[in-house]
Amino acid sequence: MPVLQDKGALVVGGASGIGAAIAAMYAVEGARVVVADRDASGASGTVRMDVADEGSVASAVAEATDLLGGRLDILVNSAGILTQAPVAEMDLATWAQTIAVDLTGVFLCCRAVLPGMIERGSGRIINIASQLGIKGGEGLAHYAAAKAGVVGLTKSLALEVSPHGVLANAIAPGPIETPMVDGITEDWKRAKRAELPLGRFGRPEEIAPTAVLLASDPGGNLYVGQTLGPNSGDVMP
Ligand SMILES: NC(=O)c1ccc[n+]([C@@H]2O[C@H](COP(=O)([O-])OP(=O)(O)OC[C@H]3O[C@@H](n4cnc5c(N)ncnc54)[C@H](O)[C@@H]3O)[C@@H](O)[C@H]2O)c1
Repeated sequence: MPVLQDKGALVVGGASGIGAAIAAMYAVEGARVVVADRDASGASGTVRMDVADEGSVASAVAEATDLLGGRLDILVNSAGILTQAPVAEMDLATWAQTIAVDLTGVFLCCRAVLPGMIERGSGRIINIASQLGIKGGEGLAHYAAAKAGVVGLTKSLALEVSPHGVLANAIAPGPIETPMVDGITEDWKRAKRAELPLGRFGRPEEIAPTAVLLASDPGGNLYVGQTLGPNSGDVMP
């Protein structure tokens, strides 16, 4: 029996990379899946959403909830952007845009789904953070700050909503081969690979099973405010 049979799932940032792998694996596990993304293709089961825009998040979550027949059981927040700049040279717009998409976007999406989940007394929220939010990264202060923020947001949210049956957790992947890392310099990637005990970057389908676990019953039932680390050994908390 698929472990997410008939669950309604919204995967934000699901048009690419880790989010796309999670959406695909959720579907295999029996969930009804809607993808929300800035780059929504217009295909059925996708809605357009800019996570940095409060109005866009509210209308896209309403549209997704309708597509799911009024029942949104699982939210995955996987939308994100990554740029590189040392703090001494970073302009405020670069900082602010990363915080807006990678942190405030998670807050807005969580907030938008909570009334329905709290009313039903059940729900799962899975926020994609990063191991860089735990250990930091040169040229990545804005990204690491946003991802550390996602971890703190997830813990606080978990405290608030677990009494209502809503479980919030984070996944902090290590480096994963997706379009996001295409833009990172080769030098950075080579150095990063050398640091990893496994000696290689992961693949999106190696993250998706963790998101299935956190959404599943009974597998995910006791995870509250946790940050799981499929990270090739980069961080061992
Ligand atoms: N790839 C990695 O090495 C890695 C490691 C740790 C964490 N992460 C995190 O995983 C998540 C997914 O990243 P990925 O590697 O799959 O990258 P990706 O670029 O393949 O996917 C990111 C998705 O987010 C969407 N997106 C970006 N800005 C958006 C916005 N304003 N509104 C709506 N959608 C938006 C993009 O269109 C894209 O579909 C991100 O949160 C990222 O920070 C990635």
